[in-house]
Amino acid sequence: TRELPIYNTDYVILGSGIAGFFTALLASRLGAGVTVLTKQSILDSNTDKAQGGIAAAMDSDDSPELHYQDTLRAGAGLCDQGAVRILVNEGPRRVLQLMDMGARFDVEGERLALTREGAHSCRRILHASGDATGAEIQRVLNEKALAEQNIQVHERHMAVDLLVKDNVCYGVLAYDCETNCLKVFRSRAVVLATGGLGQLYEHSTNPEVATGDGIAMAYRAGAEVMDMEFHQFHPTVLNLPGAPPFLISEAVRGEGAYLRNDRGERFMPAYHELAELAPRDIVVRAILQEIHKGSNGIFLDLGHLDTDMVLHRFPNINRTCLSYGLDITRDMLPVAPAAHYMMGGVKTNYCGETSVERLYACGEVGCQGVHGANRLASNSLLDGLVFGGRIVERTAGLWRENMSPWPDFAAELPDLAEPVDYQLLQQELRALMSRYVGPLRNREGLEKVLSFIDEYSRLEDTAAKDLPAVEMNNRLLVCRLVAESALMRTESRGGHFRQDYPEPRNSWKKHIILRK
Ligand code: SIN
Repeated sequence: TRELPIYNTDYVILGSGIAGFFTALLASRLGAGVTVLTKQSILDSNTDKAQGGIAAAMDSDDSPELHYQDTLRAGAGLCDQGAVRILVNEGPRRVLQLMDMGARFDVEGERLALTREGAHSCRRILHASGDATGAEIQRVLNEKALAEQNIQVHERHMAVDLLVKDNVCYGVLAYDCETNCLKVFRSRAVVLATGGLGQLYEHSTNPEVATGDGIAMAYRAGAEVMDMEFHQFHPTVLNLPGAPPFLISEAVRGEGAYLRNDRGERFMPAYHELAELAPRDIVVRAILQEIHKGSNGIFLDLGHLDTDMVLHRFPNINRTCLSYGLDITRDMLPVAPAAHYMMGGVKTNYCGETSVERLYACGEVGCQGVHGANRLASNSLLDGLVFGGRIVERTAGLWRENMSPWPDFAAELPDLAEPVDYQLLQQELRALMSRYVGPLRNREGLEKVLSFIDEYSRLEDTAAKDLPAVEMNNRLLVCRLVAESALMRTESRGGHFRQDYPEPRNSWKKHIILRK
């Protein structure tokens, strides 16, 4: 085995979205040395693409209690109530901290401008540049992180595996895609902030990097993962042949847009009292039901809304739709559901600690149960801030300690092999996931997916790895965790709907936790 270069640092943070960079900034302000590794560039994150905004009870007409109740209701009986209390109580302070760093949210006069989204009982969503909230947050975090002396940001560095011995995490083995070599980052704490796994499906709002790598690495290292069966599909993603999926923010419905079938009928009031603003899983199933009844496509209609308001609030959506020849103030926008957000992930406690010592997780990859079976819209950016902040509080003294003795990992580190092209396998897997592990599931379909994955289990143990093999292994492993959990949960709840078990069952008010 070759000698690999070893870099020492206090924190290794994997991922550069809101959870990764916010955690990095807070840790560096305490004087710790932080290394952030990110798979592509610092602009490739779900944070950067987030439109609607960030939910927090900042208005005098709102309260953390109301936010708490809404979050629990959307979570369909499976939220961890303690985690939700933390989210809603600590959220406003963390948003103010983000504003202190320079994030500028839209205002109306002296007050923050707030919008509404599905399942929120009042207007509580802060937004920036109308519908480009995430880009504003990412701009600020990038600027601050790159300027911070204590933070080293390495783009195009893909973490291959966590270096864990006797259930303690000592660092990360990573692949530098620019120099084509492996490196070891030795640290006092590793924070997973790698985001979700939307790219395991054919249609997703997520960027290319969202392939569930953090979950796969943590599972391989022996960490517990939880709630893997709960995936959120966003109801309204622009659906044009040949065009990449583009999110049409829920805030559009929050400002009054209607969903219509191909006969022009507004169908949501027949499915739920909140109509277009019902929880996302309900809107998605209503859309699928309309299509099943024969509707040739589903459309979002903003035609009855005030034109100035629409153009002022949704400049980014307007620009993108215009590039496809669609005028959002007049035309019906063809939309369809797409994979959007993973409620499950690497199991943590309220301080972001996983079941492996010195391994932490926050943001979409982490799961302390705050979102239950279905996340309330715009709670995800907030989750990254609140639980990232808690990791830094928890580990504040850690970096002053001596580094633990370094176990000899040398014999376990892989050599690199010639890259193999997994394009076809990836396509097949995504098609199967979309068909059988999407918003509607049943035993037969889930078993099909699992037996397909079993055929490729030999890949999991490939000793000589190349980068495409690492990512493909991660995809296969995470798909298996999702399908296995979905097969186990013989009921329907939130983002998990079983056609063969269409009702929620009280006996299933519990979490599925998997461990290698
Ligand atoms: C949206 O703008 O619709 C997405 C917001 C979210 O997923 O929370």
